[in-house]
Amino acid sequence: MSRDFLQISDLDHSDLTQVLQLSASAKSDPDRYSGKLSGKTIGLFFEKPSTRTRVSCEVAAVDLGAYPLVLRQEEVGLGTREPVKDAARVLTRYLDILAFRVFSHSHLETLAAYSEAPVVNLLSDRGHPCQALADLQTIAEHRELPGTRLVFVGDGNNVANSLLVAGAMTGMEVVISSPEGYEPQSSVVSLATELAASGGSVTVTEDPRTAIEGADVVYTDVWSSMGDEKDAERRRSDFMRYQIDEELFNLASRDAIFLHCLPAHRGEEVVDQVIEHDRSLVWDQAENRLHSFKALLLYIAGVT
Ligand code: CP
Ligand code: NVA
Repeated sequence: MSRDFLQISDLDHSDLTQVLQLSASAKSDPDRYSGKLSGKTIGLFFEKPSTRTRVSCEVAAVDLGAYPLVLRQEEVGLGTREPVKDAARVLTRYLDILAFRVFSHSHLETLAAYSEAPVVNLLSDRGHPCQALADLQTIAEHRELPGTRLVFVGDGNNVANSLLVAGAMTGMEVVISSPEGYEPQSSVVSLATELAASGGSVTVTEDPRTAIEGADVVYTDVWSSMGDEKDAERRRSDFMRYQIDEELFNLASRDAIFLHCLPAHRGEEVVDQVIEHDRSLVWDQAENRLHSFKALLLYIAGVT
C-alpha cells in the first residue's frame, strides 16, 4: 500500500474531510489513539531548519506509539552522498513512513517513485501540505469552511500554494494578493480552480487593500522563504505594501482571525500589534500541527 502525501490534492475531498475529523478527534480525545501505531517507525528528514514540524511530528509519532527517527541532511547527504533513488530504496527497507523536508520537490517525487513506504512532504519549494491541514483545522474551529473568505497576502510561496488548493477544495472563497512577479504558479491556481468544491473559488489580485476587504481569515507568511534569503533586501522593498499592519487588518471583517504558519518576521510581513492581537490564532494553529500530523499518520496507516 502506498499513500503518498506530496501535495494537498493527494487527498480527495472525502479523504480530506476524514483527516480533518480525525484531527479534531485526536485533539479532543488523544488517549483514544495512543499506541495505535505501535511497532511502526517513522523517518523524519530535514534538509532545512524546523521547529514546529520537527517537534510536532516527533511528538505525534511518540504519542501514537510509533518510533520517530530524525535524520538531517548533514548525515544522509540526500542527492550528494548518494542518489535520491538509492536512499529511497534503502530507507524503505527500514521505515514504515518517509516524511521529508527538502528544497526540491522533485526529490520527493523520486523518493515516492522508488519507496514502497508512503512518502510525506514536510515542506518543499512547491508546497507545505501538512501546514495546510493544521490551517484548515484552525479555521474550522471558528467557522464553517464553505463560504469563508480566506485572504492570503504576500509571497505566492509553498505555504500559499497548499493553502489555496486546500481552501478551494473545502469550499472557501480564496483570495491571494501578491506583488507582480510573486503570484502563485498558474498551474497551482488552475488545479485549485479545478478541484474547488461547490462555492469554492480562487482569485489572484495585486491590490492587498481590495483583497482584504471583508476577509474572514487573513493569512500571511515570510517574504523570503528558506533558500530565498539572498533576495531578502529586494523582497523587503517589493513587499512593503503587503505588510499586515493594523490599518490593513482593520479592513477585514470585524471578527476576522489572523493566521501565520510561523516563524514570523515581525516588522516585515506582519507587525507586533497584529500577531499579538486577540484575534490572532497563530498559537492554536501551531498546536494543530501536532493533532493534524497524528491524523495524517493514522489515515496513512489505515487506522481510524
Ligand atoms: N510552520 C512550520 O513548518 O514551521 P517550522 O519551519 O518551524 O517547522
Ligand atoms: N514559506 C516558508 C515557510 C516556513 C514554514 C519557508 O519555506 O521558509
